[in-house]
Amino acid sequence: MTQTYDDAAGLDAADPLRDFRARFLLDADLVAYLDGNSLGRLPIATADRVDAFFRQEWGGRLIRGWEEAWVDLPVGVGDELGATLLGAAAGQTVIADSTSVNLYKLLHTATGVRPDRDEIVIDATNFPTDRYLVESVAAVKGLTVVWLEPDVVDNVTRDVLAAALGERTAVVVLSHVDYRSGTLLDLPALTACVHAAGAVVIWDLCHSAGVVPISLDAHQVDFAVGCTYKYVNAGPGAPAFLYVAERHLATATQPIAGWWSAADLFAMADTYEPSPTIRRMLSGTPSVPGVVAVQEGVRLIAEAGVEAIRTKSEALTSYALALLDAAGLEVVTPRDAVRRGSHVTVRHPDARQVTTRLVEHGVVPDFREPDLIRLGLSPLTTSYTEVAAGIAVLAACAGS
Ligand SMILES: Cc1ncc(COP(=O)(O)O)c(C=O)c1O
Repeated sequence: MTQTYDDAAGLDAADPLRDFRARFLLDADLVAYLDGNSLGRLPIATADRVDAFFRQEWGGRLIRGWEEAWVDLPVGVGDELGATLLGAAAGQTVIADSTSVNLYKLLHTATGVRPDRDEIVIDATNFPTDRYLVESVAAVKGLTVVWLEPDVVDNVTRDVLAAALGERTAVVVLSHVDYRSGTLLDLPALTACVHAAGAVVIWDLCHSAGVVPISLDAHQVDFAVGCTYKYVNAGPGAPAFLYVAERHLATATQPIAGWWSAADLFAMADTYEPSPTIRRMLSGTPSVPGVVAVQEGVRLIAEAGVEAIRTKSEALTSYALALLDAAGLEVVTPRDAVRRGSHVTVRHPDARQVTTRLVEHGVVPDFREPDLIRLGLSPLTTSYTEVAAGIAVLAACAGS
């Protein structure tokens, strides 16, 4: 039976995660916030924790705070995030810097694994920062970039990838969920394909961390990065995460090997010796309020459970698809729920103007060049009523 706008209240009533919405700050003026895939809402616990951090920890403990607690936060919270979101055993994940900076570091690390090879493979549909960084690191290291040109909806399949791999392939860079179409790539199969060619893979998990169950250790992933301001709700510019599989750690080198990556941070040693642990991937002083916000976001996800979040995500995107189909709007996201992340993308010739009108009517989506409107559905905060209200306004603004 096709779902309609009238089903929203019943779906909300039956939603096992419905009470989480009240744990976030909600703007009464908004009809629908459909941009949690760019910037997640503020958890009330995070506002309280960061306020307490500023007043009591920074204000009260001052410099003593570093040795009492803060120095270990990037690794401690990295372990929490790794266990809850990434299927990563302790000691492989740190919270640091931005996704871009971490990707830059990992591109250097990963190309060092197979110095006898000279190609980096990436798809032309990948997020701009990933493409730009691959090009810049390849230029500095004298490597060649091999571009995949996949269909935007099917995205990188096993066949597309396998055709580009060979004896020269050193590293493959892939995004788990395509930032435009929302397509979810087959991480286990593609990772195995990269390994069969004798190369290593870096996964960008920005659009899947916190909303899609991930098992990096089980699938033998080599390296991964991702941000925390989308589905982890850690706030604008919150630090990112970086994962290095334990088997690569002892030989992992990185290009911003600052004092935070040294074996003894406070030794102020004359000569550099890298930390034997995942700390070797750190660079400089971390943003402690940012790391604290990541910890709160991770704890909310742990409480809800990633599997339950994924179940609701699939139901939300399916509901949105049914309403968009009924409104006659063109969708460029896979129709099979297991093949998409947590956003649904509409193609419209006047996408920019439609987005402006939506925002004027209290509905916040994302515009993406040249003709795409992304509707991000964040299971801990997005209600079915919000989806229905937002798509009703979209249908009116899009003239369908
Ligand atoms: C898939 C993907 N990769 C990388 C980035 C860049 O992240 P940052 O600006 O935090 O470096 C983004 C940002 O939205 C993204 O969506």
